[in-house]
Amino acid sequence: MSAAPAHDLAGHTVLVTGASGPKIGSGVCDALHAAGARLVINDLNDEHVGRTVHRYPGAVGVVGDVSRPDDVARMFNEAIDRAGPLTGLVNNAGVGLITPMLDATQAEFDRIVDIDFRGVWLMSQAFARSVAAHGRPGAIVNVSSVHAGKTIGRYAIYASAKAAVEGLTRACAVEFGPIGVRCNAIAPGYVPINRDLVPPDYPAPDASWIATHTNSEQVLQRVIEPIDCGWAAQFLLSEQSRCITGQVITIDAGLTARLYNGDMSARIYADRERQATLRAEGQDAR
Ligand SMILES: NC(=O)c1ccc[n+]([C@@H]2O[C@H](COP(=O)([O-])OP(=O)(O)OC[C@H]3O[C@@H](n4cnc5c(N)ncnc54)[C@H](O)[C@@H]3O)[C@@H](O)[C@H]2O)c1
Repeated sequence: MSAAPAHDLAGHTVLVTGASGPKIGSGVCDALHAAGARLVINDLNDEHVGRTVHRYPGAVGVVGDVSRPDDVARMFNEAIDRAGPLTGLVNNAGVGLITPMLDATQAEFDRIVDIDFRGVWLMSQAFARSVAAHGRPGAIVNVSSVHAGKTIGRYAIYASAKAAVEGLTRACAVEFGPIGVRCNAIAPGYVPINRDLVPPDYPAPDASWIATHTNSEQVLQRVIEPIDCGWAAQFLLSEQSRCITGQVITIDAGLTARLYNGDMSARIYADRERQATLRAEGQDAR
């Protein structure tokens, strides 16, 4: 899928966390690079960061854990030393957890909250400080999830962390707006892996599950690709969104727009027609 730029990010330098991931991070990097942004690639593993940096000419890598304050401080220093003042931050790094709430351990809770929420807070705080120090306006894009608004069983801690990210998005918009930092979020639905970025033996997602999800749960019957998230991030970092802050753009192909699987009214009208037909035929419509 083409990452053709709709928005110009020439002159921008954007730090993307969890950027070596073969799902949303890859789409964000493709779209921002295509728009002319210089990328600062963060992830946990030296080799993965190196491989990702290689894909984007001019990019620099900063290895570290977004949930650790010392790593965050070091990464901002390294990024600014090597790439100059940052104008954008995409808080993409995140981990999931699918387990019943009654079975979840404190360690699992801490891991999700540390990476998915505390990491976003630490990175956003460091970014806002750096913008204030360098005097160039900036923008943050947080990667939330459809689970922030509605969820299903076994996602309690992940869903809560993402809801917290959306609250933080609004709070950062309010507190950082006066120093020239906008803050928005994207909330993707299900985004499968980009198979071009993983070795052939990487576990394949369940194709029949993806087809059922796409065709039965989404309004738009197309798979959401990483680049769909990238295009939204591109817009939210660009001048074209200069008056937008504190907002969440849902990228879910209509998953959360629909009630009752979309056919409740069809069922009601079919039932009414059946009753009218029975009445016309003189039969008891009940
Ligand atoms: N894929 C989906 O369907 C989907 C849907 C909604 C939201 N999301 C969100 O999108 C974001 C990216 O997830 P993804 O699905 O693309 O997964 P992914 O595994 O492809 O990418 C996540 C990346 O984050 C990195 N990471 C994990 N912990 C980190 C830490 N402490 N510091 C720095 N990097 C760290 C991982 O190494 C990985 O490369 C996450 O925030 C996730 O919650 C994903």
